[in-house]
Amino acid sequence: MKKIVSAILVIALVAICFFAGSLVRPKATVEEAAPVEQPVITDTHSDDGRTVIGISMPDRLLERWNKDGAYLRAQFEKRGYEVLLRYSNNLIDTQVDGILEMIKEGADLLVIAAVDGAALSDVLNVAKASNVPVIAYDRLIMDSDVVDYYVSFDNYKVGVLQAEYVIRVLNLMYTEETKRIEFVSGDPVDNNAKFFYQGAKDTLDPFFKDGKLVSLSGQLGFYETSTSQWSTDLAQQRLQIILNSYYPDNVRLDAVLCANDSTALGAVRALESDYTSANHVAVTGQDADIANIYNIIEGTQGMTVFKALREESVVTVALGEYLLKGIYPGEELISSSDFDFKCSFNTTDYDNGKKIVSSYLLEPITVTKDNIEKQLFESGYYRRNSAGLIYAAK
Ligand code: GAL
Repeated sequence: MKKIVSAILVIALVAICFFAGSLVRPKATVEEAAPVEQPVITDTHSDDGRTVIGISMPDRLLERWNKDGAYLRAQFEKRGYEVLLRYSNNLIDTQVDGILEMIKEGADLLVIAAVDGAALSDVLNVAKASNVPVIAYDRLIMDSDVVDYYVSFDNYKVGVLQAEYVIRVLNLMYTEETKRIEFVSGDPVDNNAKFFYQGAKDTLDPFFKDGKLVSLSGQLGFYETSTSQWSTDLAQQRLQIILNSYYPDNVRLDAVLCANDSTALGAVRALESDYTSANHVAVTGQDADIANIYNIIEGTQGMTVFKALREESVVTVALGEYLLKGIYPGEELISSSDFDFKCSFNTTDYDNGKKIVSSYLLEPITVTKDNIEKQLFESGYYRRNSAGLIYAAK
């Protein structure tokens, strides 16, 4: 009997061990490793005697980013910082790799103008793990709580200025006629483009509602009017299709609201090649690119929105110096700096999906044939050489 009982006990013991074992978390095997930790780049930047600024720009194709990169480098180097400047050819992976490289090279601060604002979350987690503060430059970086600040222009106001120009030139406040407009919006992955579009649309909507403004193509939404990579060619092709489909044989078009100068170049080329009416079409833009300054002087483009990029880099450098000291400023950055331009501090409007990003916003300016000399040449932003050709002052 005893033998039977002990046998039962042994079997029970074995069974208990077997089942108990199945409740104990098995030793992690390779494929079931612990949750992925962000690769912490060794904290090379804190005590190596250098103060390194990592600057990541979208590309060199759009004229403005070359200026931004040059201004930022000059402003930081003037203050004795070492600068790493990377351009990304408008490729997300190139930008991510470039940012990672700069962290490894010891960047103490990152200044990033995103190619795609929603594509940097992982690499910014590496920056966080390496205690590197991050300034989103000009374009808000989305879906990341690692972004410390955003420095840009009031992007919604850019769209408002473009729309106000159209209202004025088409006399929408007083005309009895119905006017016709088409939209050419920006890159759908550029968060700014949505603000430009919304500012313009909100300003023009009352005129659509009272029938004073129509779009014969019916293309009024952001995505259906957007232009991948701000491409001049894509803007031109899309508008050529619209002109041939909806404005043939002298059907009049009164305005094309383009979100920036590279798309405005495409619109002007489409109007030159495929628009058959004799009337002048009001074309808007943004960035005061040199080719578009010529078009404004000649009259094929009506206006551009000028953003004094030097101001954007001055604010970024002033903010960067606070962050390098571990100080996270508010309004006091503006009052404590010798800014000779208007700058506002915004803590409500720029929700990047993870946090409301504190932002410093600058004022965009409408430039037309009437004020181009004062705003662009007398201000020293542009010069003419002896042949009369325009170039951007350093
Ligand atoms: C936007 C930027 C504009 C313009 C555009 C591309 O993000 O804010 O100034 O540069 O990209 O032309």
